[in-house]
Amino acid sequence: MKYYPSTLSTDESNQLANKITTKLAAQGWGFWAVELKISKQFIGFVGLNQPSYDLPITPCTEIGWRLAKPFWGMGYATEAGRLALDYGFTQLALLEIYSFASVGNQRSINVMKRLNMTNTNQNFEHPLIPSGHPLREHVLYRIDNLTP
Ligand SMILES: CC(C)(COP(=O)(O)OP(=O)(O)OC[C@H]1O[C@@H](n2cnc3c(N)ncnc32)[C@H](O)[C@@H]1OP(=O)(O)O)[C@@H](O)C(=O)NCCC(=O)NCCS
Repeated sequence: MKYYPSTLSTDESNQLANKITTKLAAQGWGFWAVELKISKQFIGFVGLNQPSYDLPITPCTEIGWRLAKPFWGMGYATEAGRLALDYGFTQLALLEIYSFASVGNQRSINVMKRLNMTNTNQNFEHPLIPSGHPLREHVLYRIDNLTP
């Protein structure tokens, strides 16, 4: 949670999990749980989401990821991200998918680059992060649906 304003309490984390589960049930897609194929161990989430707050590009669909630290450095976010993009373009017929991260969140930005997303160079101030906070400035990446 280094690139978020604060960590989550157990209650807040459970609330987030409930919100994600509710959205998944309602629309059939969202931030999916990521499991290791070999053991079915839950290691985090990767998926698609429509931000409910105002961004320079809303309404839009974003791709996002959050994995438990022991599972970084193994390509899992990129592997799951590829599947999520494919779902968004083929099943949801989205025209484009966005991703954003605090400017210093290089690991997240690297996932965007590995997924062939392009920097729009339209950095923006994240509306949910207080004015003047060092994490407020975000990069904005995009990938277009090139499915014929
Ligand atoms: C963002 C986050 C998911 C990125 O995780 P990550 O492990 O760096 O990304 P990937 O799962 O794609 O793994 C890529 C790494 O695995 C390596 N790797 C190993 N096997 C690989 C494979 N088969 N395919 C791709 N990469 C592979 C890559 O070389 C890369 O290594 P590096 O870290 O030394 O450059 C993770 O840092 C995270 O959960 N952060 C906290 C939450 C967060 O900030 N989320 C984003 C908010 S915007």
